[in-house]
Amino acid sequence: MHQPLTPDYYHYEWTAINSAFCSHDGSVVVTWHDGKQLECHPLWLRENAPGPGGIDPRSKENDLNIVDLNLETRITKAFVQNGALIVHFQPEGRQASFHPGWLRHVADGKHKTFALLPQPQVWTSADLIEPPTHDGPSVLASDEALADWLDDLLKYGLARLIRLPTANEIVELVGNRIGVLRDSNFGLTWHVSVDIDPNSTANTNAELPAHSDLPSRETPPGFQLLHCQKNTASGGMSTMTDGLAVVDHLETNEPEVLELLTSRQWTFFNRDESQDHRWTGPIIDKGDGRVPWTFRAFHPVRGFPAMPEEEISDAYAALQRFGYLANWDKFQIRYEFTPGDLVAFDNRRVLHGRESFDTTAGVRRLRGTYLDSDEVYSRMRVLRRHLTSSNSSNTFSATGANINA
Ligand code: OGA
Ligand code: ZN
Repeated sequence: MHQPLTPDYYHYEWTAINSAFCSHDGSVVVTWHDGKQLECHPLWLRENAPGPGGIDPRSKENDLNIVDLNLETRITKAFVQNGALIVHFQPEGRQASFHPGWLRHVADGKHKTFALLPQPQVWTSADLIEPPTHDGPSVLASDEALADWLDDLLKYGLARLIRLPTANEIVELVGNRIGVLRDSNFGLTWHVSVDIDPNSTANTNAELPAHSDLPSRETPPGFQLLHCQKNTASGGMSTMTDGLAVVDHLETNEPEVLELLTSRQWTFFNRDESQDHRWTGPIIDKGDGRVPWTFRAFHPVRGFPAMPEEEISDAYAALQRFGYLANWDKFQIRYEFTPGDLVAFDNRRVLHGRESFDTTAGVRRLRGTYLDSDEVYSRMRVLRRHLTSSNSSNTFSATGANINA
């Protein structure tokens, strides 16, 4: 049987619908054999009707201009044919059929932004002593290994690769396994090294307490990769803190501090001879209440309190409390950064840092890059789509597309 077109690149199992009925407001309610139901609004279903003025078969996108949508559209007749949903739209008089597996994925909430991604797992130093670790060359060579690494990266907000070569291009090579790198005034990839003219505190040998990079941007980079090329300096151990664990602690024990951190705004700015980046936001931005949370924390680029004078003292006290917690060994892990290691982390969730170090008898050289969160999320979804194709028990299966393309 010819299967109805779906507006995406997934192949859905034929989860046959058991029954369909029209409700008085013109929508249709479909029911599967296991009792699961989905109510489909007529305007939403109409937009997703396969064919002209609906889902275009080439782009698989909706080609119905909103101004051409008849807001009076109602479903006047609905029935099940070979398990698919068939409806009549009036007054247009159009009949359309819908793939039951595609409708089922909506009923199951699998169309939602984070549905196909691993659930974040909040951690403290009682759960992790070092980043979850994977073999670097395997991640460069295999999509299964890449998926496993990204799975940990999205769960814990950090994941490490080891045994990589130490050449300059490695960080870009690994980043490109995920997606498009995010450029900035530091370049597409950049060194962290004391022999670079320090327009950033990162290029000194100073301690960097738990922080996030580029809070001075409207959207700070989602993910960061740091690759260790050389490290014979003494000191300079890496640190990581799960910001979500600090939030959990504050919610339970110090809600008034959390309130100040989420509501009082600060202006961050990042400047040199040719740059003047500024953005204003709270230290902890809750986003949509799940992820992405954005932690804005980096004292070298925090410029001004953006709040009335009488609120400033309390806001500084909350900021300092956050600084203690984020650098407290209950939350913060500390580990060696060895040449050939590459640590990826969610720059908006996990606060990274390093100890100060001494380069009189050695060198320390890292290379880094950023990626927007979208790149990591998309790659994870596509890898899962591809890799579940061999597992027929999954609702989804792959299109067989070349995922390296
Ligand atoms: C940075 C940074 C960490 C390190 O460059 O922003 O956090 O270990 N570097 O040097
Ligand atoms: Zn940093």
